[in-house]
Amino acid sequence: MQVTETKSALMKLLAPLRLEGKRISFVPTMGALHRGHISLVDRARKECDIVVCSIFVNPTQFNNPGDLKNYPRTVKQDSAMLEKALVDIVFLPSVEEMYAPGEIEETFDFGMLDKVMEGAQRPGHFKGVAIIVSKLFEIVRPHKAYFGEKDFQQLTIIRELVNQRKSLTYGIEIIGCETVREQSGLAMSSRNMRLTEDERKEAANIYKALSMIKSEWKKSNTNNAEIINKAIKVIEQNGMMKVEYLEIADEKTLMPVNSENQGKLLRCFAAIQLGNVRLIDNMKLEI
Ligand code: PAF
Repeated sequence: MQVTETKSALMKLLAPLRLEGKRISFVPTMGALHRGHISLVDRARKECDIVVCSIFVNPTQFNNPGDLKNYPRTVKQDSAMLEKALVDIVFLPSVEEMYAPGEIEETFDFGMLDKVMEGAQRPGHFKGVAIIVSKLFEIVRPHKAYFGEKDFQQLTIIRELVNQRKSLTYGIEIIGCETVREQSGLAMSSRNMRLTEDERKEAANIYKALSMIKSEWKKSNTNNAEIINKAIKVIEQNGMMKVEYLEIADEKTLMPVNSENQGKLLRCFAAIQLGNVRLIDNMKLEI
């Protein structure tokens, strides 16, 4: 596994591989890796010749300085995991390497996609994600890039970004991969590292609530206010978790839906505060 810290070194490594016709895959991360990330790497390795993985805690996507400060940084452990997962190249840039002083900030227009749910709760978050992902795409120029469905809204926005900037993003194929869960159903997340043992147990109720919505929805297909209220009670039953939002939305537009949803692909999205940690999750609904 080769480790690079500069854009130029990474581009130098990739150029001859691209010329040889190798298929290049890319798994961008912020480190604190877990089985969810490794599942992306595994899929990338199966589908392409070269796997590039980046670890960069991107300051521009944190709207809360405390969250940025507390974000787990475990580079040594992460590198060992990536080596074991047979990653070919790891990119570990510094903040200065990715953000030159005085650089002009890019602007994006994602319509409503970045205004709802996470976008409403974390102003500027998706702008920061779009900035760093476009920079990384331009450096790596992968054939395929892999993202987890746990951050489904992020995945939707990145698909839109690539769609809008076909010439700049070289027709990268965006692959969404299913959320990997712990045995309790809790979605794997780097933020889970910050949960106490009791909180981790409690967090399993998020999965229970989403699963309940899924099965109730399958039965009725309408009247979701009632279903949602029941699910909020499941999550908040022990007074440890507080629901920030819990809503059923159209998978493509991310706009909330409440009845008569024939033919739409729907998902239930949740954000929950548990102690000092904010968790998100989502589940596909069957019609
Ligand atoms: O999902 C993440 O870990 C980050 O948002 C990403 C896509 C690596 C951009 O910093």
